[in-house]
Amino acid sequence: MRIAIGNDHVAIEMKNEITAFLKEKGLEVIDVGTNNPERFNYPISGYKVAKMVTSGEVDAGVLICGTGVGISLAANKVHGIRACVCSDPYTARLSKQHNNTNIIAFGARVIGIETAKMIVEEWLNAEYEGGRHQTRIDMITEIEQTQHLTAAEEE
Ligand code: RB5
Repeated sequence: MRIAIGNDHVAIEMKNEITAFLKEKGLEVIDVGTNNPERFNYPISGYKVAKMVTSGEVDAGVLICGTGVGISLAANKVHGIRACVCSDPYTARLSKQHNNTNIIAFGARVIGIETAKMIVEEWLNAEYEGGRHQTRIDMITEIEQTQHLTAAEEE
């Protein structure tokens, strides 16, 4: 399994620890940065990881910024991305089982490293359940694909 990981300047240390954690599990990890403590705009890494996921270059993505909010918002602008920012393993697991998330995000200023590891672990081990959940995901995809239409065209 190949995972892309990205972060901003406040999350370098957590990114490094999560990268090591994933590699210990035998996963291939592609780090898109940043690895420079200079102020860094999180949409850059959010977008890079998102495109790697939708292109199939990687199987999943992990994004970390101060809160996980900005970087997941950026990723979610890419069609086909379902990025979930969370602070607990339960939400992480359910986000895969019910929402088929393809990126997990969290905040280096919000949670500690052990919680972050548990989140990643639960998320990677969870499986999408399909069934009734697919109807809802199809509805989300339809919203995404019709945003360029005017109200009249949508009818
Ligand atoms: C950086 O100061 C901070 O805004 C960023 O890491 C993140 O929390 C944004 O959502």
